[in-house]
Amino acid sequence: MRDANPKTIFLKDYQVPDYLIHTVDLTFDLAEDNTLVKTQLSLVKNPSSSSDNADLVLMGENLVLHSVVLDGQTLSHPDYLQTDEQLIIANVPQQREFTLTIENSINPKANTALEGLYLSNGMLCTQCEAEGFRKITYFLDRPDVMSRYTTTIIGDKQRYPVLLSNGNKTGSGELSDNKHWVSWQDPFNKPCYLFALVAGQLECIHDTYTTQSGRVINLEIFVEPHDRDKCAHAMQSLKYSMAWDEEVYGREYDLDLYMIVAVSHFNMGAMENKGLNIFNTKFVLARPDTATDYDYEHIESVIAHEYFHNWTGNRITCRDWFQLSLKEGFTVFRDQQFTADRTSKAVKRIEDVINLRTRQFAEDAGPLAHPVRPDAYIEINNFYTLTVYEKGAEVVRMLHTLLGEQGFRKGCDWYFEKYDGQAVTCDDFVLAMTTTNPIDLEQFKLWYTQAGTPVLTVTSDYNATTQALTLNIDQHCPATPGQHVKKPMHIPVRFGLIDQQGTPIPCQVNSNTALANELILELTQASHTYVFNDIKEQPVVSLLRGFSAPVKLVMERSLDELAFLLNYDTDTFSRWDAGQQLSTQIILGLINDIQNGLALQLSPILIDAFQNLLAQSWQDLSYFSLLLSLPSETYLAEQMPIIDVVAIHKAREFVTKTLAENLQQALQTWYLNQHRDESGCFNAEAIGRRRIKNTCLHYLTTLDDAAIKNWAHQQFKTAKNMTDQMAALSVMVNNPHYARRQCLMDFYQQWQHEPLVIDKWFSLQASSPGLDTYDTVLALLKHPAFELKTPNRVRALIGSFSQGNPLHFHAANGTGYQLLSDIIIELNSLNPQLASRMLSPLTTWRRYDDSRQALMIAQLERIIATEHISRDLYEVASKSLS
Ligand code: TRP
Ligand code: ZN
Repeated sequence: MRDANPKTIFLKDYQVPDYLIHTVDLTFDLAEDNTLVKTQLSLVKNPSSSSDNADLVLMGENLVLHSVVLDGQTLSHPDYLQTDEQLIIANVPQQREFTLTIENSINPKANTALEGLYLSNGMLCTQCEAEGFRKITYFLDRPDVMSRYTTTIIGDKQRYPVLLSNGNKTGSGELSDNKHWVSWQDPFNKPCYLFALVAGQLECIHDTYTTQSGRVINLEIFVEPHDRDKCAHAMQSLKYSMAWDEEVYGREYDLDLYMIVAVSHFNMGAMENKGLNIFNTKFVLARPDTATDYDYEHIESVIAHEYFHNWTGNRITCRDWFQLSLKEGFTVFRDQQFTADRTSKAVKRIEDVINLRTRQFAEDAGPLAHPVRPDAYIEINNFYTLTVYEKGAEVVRMLHTLLGEQGFRKGCDWYFEKYDGQAVTCDDFVLAMTTTNPIDLEQFKLWYTQAGTPVLTVTSDYNATTQALTLNIDQHCPATPGQHVKKPMHIPVRFGLIDQQGTPIPCQVNSNTALANELILELTQASHTYVFNDIKEQPVVSLLRGFSAPVKLVMERSLDELAFLLNYDTDTFSRWDAGQQLSTQIILGLINDIQNGLALQLSPILIDAFQNLLAQSWQDLSYFSLLLSLPSETYLAEQMPIIDVVAIHKAREFVTKTLAENLQQALQTWYLNQHRDESGCFNAEAIGRRRIKNTCLHYLTTLDDAAIKNWAHQQFKTAKNMTDQMAALSVMVNNPHYARRQCLMDFYQQWQHEPLVIDKWFSLQASSPGLDTYDTVLALLKHPAFELKTPNRVRALIGSFSQGNPLHFHAANGTGYQLLSDIIIELNSLNPQLASRMLSPLTTWRRYDDSRQALMIAQLERIIATEHISRDLYEVASKSLS
């Protein structure tokens, strides 16, 4: 582990590399605790570098150096200088290519940070993004150094029968001592963060895909032997992704082989290494009885995401890590489009917006707020954020909205054509759009450089005499750390008017444009006034349809108007959002009542609105379920100046229960009509049936009704798919239930050999509002299946408790904070990346009351004082305190 060395890296200091590496020839001789790495590099002075006779500075960490040979000459001190993080070689040739051969060894077994080469369940694997390659060998570990790789792997035949790296297999053979070797060659230039190696006892699931040009691609998924019955969905997802990228972006796969390996110990979701993706098992393995509908959907979208990186990330990569959103924002946008096409467009958009508004908006309003393209960092691993990924995707989506489907595609084609094989910047991406479209995007670029969520304040005024509607929109972006004054941004606002019957009213921005049911208003000034003429009756304004920009909308609306939109808006997103605003306003009112000691009463407007929804018949049952879902406690918290977790929980529970009491008949009818046992059925209809049924069950089990408690118990016992089993267990854990203990025990017994299912078991208990949750979490920390070295398990228990259970994590006595900090301090030395990610719930301390603030700050200060604090943890903890 490296110690905190709070050196800040700035975008403005970017300089081209002094040297380039044309070819990389790697040989690995594998052993768990001592792997020998031999690296042969051919280097040249970079013709674009301006410095004369610069030292060759290679990065390296935790390496045991054996030898350095330059053009056949063994170097010794002082020909080279070795520091903790660098190998510096002076006087290398300036006029010609030269060869550097380095031998070093590493210890994968001791690598609990899961960065570089590490061990997971006996399997050796790598994770190099962002800066893990330097933990394998000394190198110019930066994405603008792109090279041709060949890799030879030597290993024990029994322990490592499968030996994989990027590209195509070029040779293999037997060696003495029961060893064998395999060589790989990757014909494409790539940055070292895309390098990968895997070795282990793995089963291969094989299939093929024929591209639109008729090339046959081998598809291989590698898993531990007991998981081979859980790969079919991942394989099918890969084939859908390949076909979609051909159809929608005209992009074909470029190698003859595409491999995916599933690994149990993994810091993130998955990694797009060229031709050899490495995945968290969570995003590969699925069988109807082990994975929920959400799991199935997430697997398909992560498989797609990594596949799409082949063009947006690999063929065209990032010049430096400040440009991370170039590949991540674009690729998230692409995987969102893919999932929207494959499932329900309405549902996908709503789910993405929920994620953005609850989590990214919080990040953008807090002490770690940063632009989509950050301009400074201490540890790049801390910048794989919701802002870079999700807001970055929104920025690409806005370009798509402004340019239209065809204009956007023209820009993409130009981008792929022009920059293929290069490492480029976000500006280059925007340049592709302006070169191919008649649009000025200079102001739009503020989306890359200005942090914070803009707020749109809207007023409308209808004048019946002049038959004109005046709409006023002001924009304002709040200050964020280091950015106190903000400029107005270029914001596309999709907009429409509807009449009192719910029919669209055609309108135009000015008399030169055609009448349309929907318009895109392009805001560029701090304030805009639009006048719409010939509007015969008082219209209802529907604004920010499809959530056309990542902004907050402030517009005073009556509960009746919101209820009207919930029933009549023609845009599926705005219709759902009207319902969310309706229930948010009502719940915030109840929170206020709780804080003032008043009796609670639920507005009949909400009951009537839900009654109306339940009385209709629905095509898309998943969408219907979303309309019936209340905003989460986390979303509600975001709407409050000072977060009161107890009042939020009480108010939301009260609404849930009161709705259930008033709508019991309708909810029961929906439950009974949609409840059936459909194992292995994953079409939209079956998924929708499960979703609406389980939504109804969730409402109903808040009632103290013996029959309904039995329904839940029965559903748990007879479920043949994980969606239904988990939904039943969840309502039994979240509400008082006679069979709660028994079912939790049975579930553990049934699934103890399936780690991903046991993660659900941990997670469910840690997120329960039940009174005993804190004690349960303490007990689970001592459970034999709890393991600090397994990120999925840490996220399941500690992540669910601290991020998915505001009520108990923010317990007034501070025990939740203390528990989290204890774990983070332990994780600091084991896995800094994970430690720093787990810290995020403490960074929002400014949002709570004085007493909680003091408790949270005390824990942050304790964390900062950790001996040998990692850069990762130091950066997040110190920025959140300052
Ligand atoms: N590039 C990966 C993706 O978004 C994610 C990633 C970045 C990652 N850094 C990582 C994965 C470290 C694992 C570990 O697809
Ligand atoms: Zn990605």
